[in-house]
Amino acid sequence: MENEQKKQVVFSAIQPSGTITLGNYLGAVRNWVRMQDEYNCIYALADMHTITVRQEPAQMRKNILDAYASIMACGIDVEKSIFFIQSHVHTHAEMAWILNCYTQFGELSRMTQFKDKSAKHADNINAGLFTYPSLMAGDILLYQADKVPVGADQKQHIELTCDIAKRFNGLYGNVFKIPEGFIPKNGARVMSLQNPLNKMSKSDENANGCVHLLDPPEVIMKKFKRAVTDSDACVRYAEGKDGVNNLMTIYGAVTGKTYDEIEKEFDGKGYGDFKTAVGEAVIEELRPIRERYEQLIADKAYLEDCYHKSDELALRISSRTLNKAMKKVGFIK
Ligand code: TYM
Repeated sequence: MENEQKKQVVFSAIQPSGTITLGNYLGAVRNWVRMQDEYNCIYALADMHTITVRQEPAQMRKNILDAYASIMACGIDVEKSIFFIQSHVHTHAEMAWILNCYTQFGELSRMTQFKDKSAKHADNINAGLFTYPSLMAGDILLYQADKVPVGADQKQHIELTCDIAKRFNGLYGNVFKIPEGFIPKNGARVMSLQNPLNKMSKSDENANGCVHLLDPPEVIMKKFKRAVTDSDACVRYAEGKDGVNNLMTIYGAVTGKTYDEIEKEFDGKGYGDFKTAVGEAVIEELRPIRERYEQLIADKAYLEDCYHKSDELALRISSRTLNKAMKKVGFIK
């Protein structure tokens, strides 16, 4: 127990806004799994973040359960870690409101994800989309997290979280631990297989650009075989070779091989062989996840048990920070 208390706290979350992608897995979830023994890990499905973009209710319910089962299937163990559903833990909405009042309009305006998403959803630039980073800051700060394992696209939001926390602490004393992003060396930014200048995303318009965690093997192989490359016909990591660089990144992240090793392995071979090798490596990495997902999704009662247990623990831990912050601000009991 004493040892438990010394462990650093890890917090991270993922939006259940569609099926989980290979990008989510290599950039974040794989590290969540790996960190479970060394840290006190707290993970969430950030379903409140998801409604910043309009959702179809029945589909959203399905996505939440599917995402929960998919993440568990990757290897999250609720005997070791907490894995809860954000909307079930009311402290998040409350903390987000408080932090909104300590976050500047200018700061939120500079968030590149807000700019991207408002361009993409120009008919629905709602206040939630704008203030989403303070909800995310609350998620992290409520648990006094030391480390936040995420992909590179969340770096700016984590920096803002630190700025908000420092500002709050500056006014009221040490209320929040200042967290640190934990971004993997390999796989932090997996790009679309069809447009390697854009990140691989659940909402890619071109279905072949995105590999989903639960894609069947033949679909995965087809997507890699169709991946955009170049006319250089040489497997090497270099500027301007975005498609090949991305495939090398994926291959390296899955096999643990360095770029040098990959270049040697495919010396004298064409892109066809290389794409097949990447496809096979990804298929083998995802096979056990898909099998485990099928078992989990068939057992809704077990999933419910897992998240109810985690929801309760998350509420207990986060209430401590929320109460402290509210007291400091000047609310009375
Ligand atoms: P989300 O749901 O967009 O993505 C979940 C995680 O996957 C990473 N990721 C990627 N990594 C590599 N390559 C990609 N193509 C790729 N696409 C996504 C993301 O960086 C992320 O780590 N706002 C967050 C969810 C969130 C959160 C939090 C995260 C809510 N509260 C508190 C950390 C801490 C989001 O929308 O992630």
